[in-house]
Amino acid sequence: MLKKKLIIFPFNGNGVEALDCISFDEYELIGFVDDDACKQSKQYDIYTRDILHQYRELHVLAVPGSPASFRKRKEIISSLGIDRSRYITAIHPRASIGRDVQVGKNCLIMAGVVLTSNAQVKDHVCILPNSVIHHDSVVGEYTLVGSNVVIAGGTTVGESCYIGSGTNIINGISIGDASLIGLGSNILKSVLGNAKMVGNPARDLNTLVEQKIL
Ligand SMILES: CC(C)(COP(=O)(O)OP(=O)(O)OC[C@H]1O[C@@H](n2cnc3c(N)ncnc32)[C@H](O)[C@@H]1OP(=O)(O)O)[C@@H](O)C(=O)NCCC(=O)NCCS
Repeated sequence: MLKKKLIIFPFNGNGVEALDCISFDEYELIGFVDDDACKQSKQYDIYTRDILHQYRELHVLAVPGSPASFRKRKEIISSLGIDRSRYITAIHPRASIGRDVQVGKNCLIMAGVVLTSNAQVKDHVCILPNSVIHHDSVVGEYTLVGSNVVIAGGTTVGESCYIGSGTNIINGISIGDASLIGLGSNILKSVLGNAKMVGNPARDLNTLVEQKIL
């Protein structure tokens, strides 16, 4: 079988971890694309964005984003100018995808992730190892979910959120767009957009700082 050629963007932690999730029976890794010309690797070729436009047969997995930059994921991914059909979705062979689960394009689903009945993962989402998204929950476009996160049933996480590792989110609530949930938080109530929640029970870090509680 002729293998499909694949580029990963950028050369970051998610991109390197994505290699564990891709079937190299199906794909041939051409290398990474990165905007930082100083990045170097002994193992992989690193290209500028030009390669994406020179060779339109290349498939792409774009996984930028960190707690510092997650709100810009939509802008960064859109700026690549890649048709939706060129994106792949990488699902680790030891992830569990339940009945009637939907996973969009350009998603990265790492080892041990469990998506149970009717869960929906929209386009451009990364879910790190051992996280569980329960039945009827929705993870919005461009959101990053850390490792060991539990999202209980019927909860909606908005677009462009960052859910820190080890977070638990109670069932049936919603997390507004562009919210940041700090490492190890327990979210027990719905959260408005652009929030920055930490702790157990989680509280808005911006409010705590304003009130001089932290
Ligand atoms: C929330 C977060 C982004 C920090 O935001 P920040 O604005 O830089 O906050 P600071 O580090 O300045 O901390 C401000 C205060 O909040 C507290 N705080 C920060 N993160 C916290 C967290 N996750 N839980 C509880 N308290 C936290 C700090 O202890 C500090 O309190 P202090 O002033 O009494 O010392 C970061 O701590 C975090 O949780 N990032 C997610 C990391 C993650 O999940 N990584 C996984 C990668 S796979």
